[in-house]
Amino acid sequence: MDKYDSVIELAKRRGFLWNSFEIYGGTAGFYDYGPLGAMLKRRIENIWRDVYVINEGYYEIESPTIGIEDVFVASGHVGGFSDPLSECAKCHEAFRADHLIRHIVSNPDTLCCDDLVRIIRENNITCPECGGKLGNVYEFNLMFRTFIGPGLKRIGYLRPETAQGMFVDFPRLLRFYREKLPFGVTQIGKAYRNEISPRQGIIRLREFTQAEAEIFIDPKDKTHPGFDIIKDYSVMLYSESAQESDKGAVEMTLENAVSEGIIAHQYLAYAIYNTQEFLLRVGVSPERLRFRQHMKDEMAHYAIDCWDAEILSGRFGWVEIVGIADRTDYDLMTHSKVSKVDLSVYMEYDEPKIVEKLSIKPDMGKIGPVFKQKARSIVEALQSLDVDELNKDEIIITVDGEDVVISPDMVEVKQVSETIRGENIVPHVIEPSFGIDRIIYSVLEHAYREEMVEEENETRIVLGLKPEIAPIQVAILPLLTRQELIEPARKIESSLRKKGVMVSYDDSGTIGRRYRRNDEIGTPYSITIDYDTLEDATVTIRDRDSMEQVRSRIDTIADTVHDLITGNIAFEDAGSPVEK
Ligand code: GLY
Repeated sequence: MDKYDSVIELAKRRGFLWNSFEIYGGTAGFYDYGPLGAMLKRRIENIWRDVYVINEGYYEIESPTIGIEDVFVASGHVGGFSDPLSECAKCHEAFRADHLIRHIVSNPDTLCCDDLVRIIRENNITCPECGGKLGNVYEFNLMFRTFIGPGLKRIGYLRPETAQGMFVDFPRLLRFYREKLPFGVTQIGKAYRNEISPRQGIIRLREFTQAEAEIFIDPKDKTHPGFDIIKDYSVMLYSESAQESDKGAVEMTLENAVSEGIIAHQYLAYAIYNTQEFLLRVGVSPERLRFRQHMKDEMAHYAIDCWDAEILSGRFGWVEIVGIADRTDYDLMTHSKVSKVDLSVYMEYDEPKIVEKLSIKPDMGKIGPVFKQKARSIVEALQSLDVDELNKDEIIITVDGEDVVISPDMVEVKQVSETIRGENIVPHVIEPSFGIDRIIYSVLEHAYREEMVEEENETRIVLGLKPEIAPIQVAILPLLTRQELIEPARKIESSLRKKGVMVSYDDSGTIGRRYRRNDEIGTPYSITIDYDTLEDATVTIRDRDSMEQVRSRIDTIADTVHDLITGNIAFEDAGSPVEK
């Protein structure tokens, strides 16, 4: 059993993750979150909200998970969101053609269908399931298609990313943010990709949860107002050039990364900072985290630059869990084109600009007597001419469908000053996009450990989850199932619940077994109520990781536990130490 199997076995056994539709045999690419998994997921999502919504001020919206066809035509997903598929002629199993030749070429995902077929044939690659002949390779669109309403007329798609809901709301959002850049908006929700043959369990799902922020910025100003505060922050970067020259990832400050041109601008650097802070807060191990820049030929169709947060996993190697993309004005431009709605922003300059320009001045004194009642229309037509294209020797304009020749002495081209106060621009978008399910798996894998407990000559499994994300935060364990112990235990349970702490009450089995059960699900603290409790009104708090214990007063236990979970106090300060 490798680490992945151990983590998934525990996750299934203890109610974190279950295969969906299990009683019908299940199907690849779908997982249910059980009671503990769903709680863990909410906690992680809420920390994400704390970072992006509360701290950055990027309000959250909620748009439909089904989109109309126009949205995904504009976004480029109808035309180009596909993977190459090859089907076995014998057993009809479908495979990702690029995955079939991974061991032969280093860049299979950049090859076209013809090249993939050629390499499959040249290397006599057959169906991995039955050895049958593989068919031609074609592009398979990864969106789930459906129909809106009865009949087949109105095509819809399950969204492949939450992002598009935020782009199509841009005019409303712009008004909400009082027509000023920069601003950000967020969305957490389900997205769907009909993966060809997902074989990586929870790592590649067909229905998954994204948490995405779209940050709309002025393309002429990619300096971030908060960069100065975080510029000395260090991150592990694996840039495109390091990958090209076979060098490893390098740790460096964000300031150096931007000034050396490794990270293109401060907004991307700031997004990398926020991503790392979030990932460490939820429990990703810093030693198994890096940021890898996309190579030019692997970039999504909408991006000019992209950095993935990757974690090192026992089975899958480096796995992308967050993508941070510079999407430029790609999405707003394409939506503007397809919807025919202007998605630009009027940006006023700090100082008005005075520009000198040439201007056409019709001479009414000469035009009036010659053209009489047509003179006004002729003047207007002359004023709308482009001065750069004016041929002064032969001026012909069209008025009321009739060509009119104007004598050169009837117009004067003059230099004039014009005051310009601003301009319309289409914002660029910086997008940190978090794969919540992969983050949950990373957190579980990085938290999972098996360790020998010498004094008990036994191995214990510990899920070292951060207290802030642990599904159960405190276990209440009366030493014995006796009424005199159950009563104070129930009182403590109720005082903790009132404080918003998630507790479990467990009185079955030996105290050792109960500790082990809670270690396995990551409960950071256990409170034991024993006979001393009846004497001195104290209880034992046990720390999951160190297995140390302190005696703490009952009357302040709810505050003490709350402070422990939120990190306000250290474990040693929660009571007086208990000798083992
Ligand atoms: N929005 C980025 C992605 O879905 O990959």
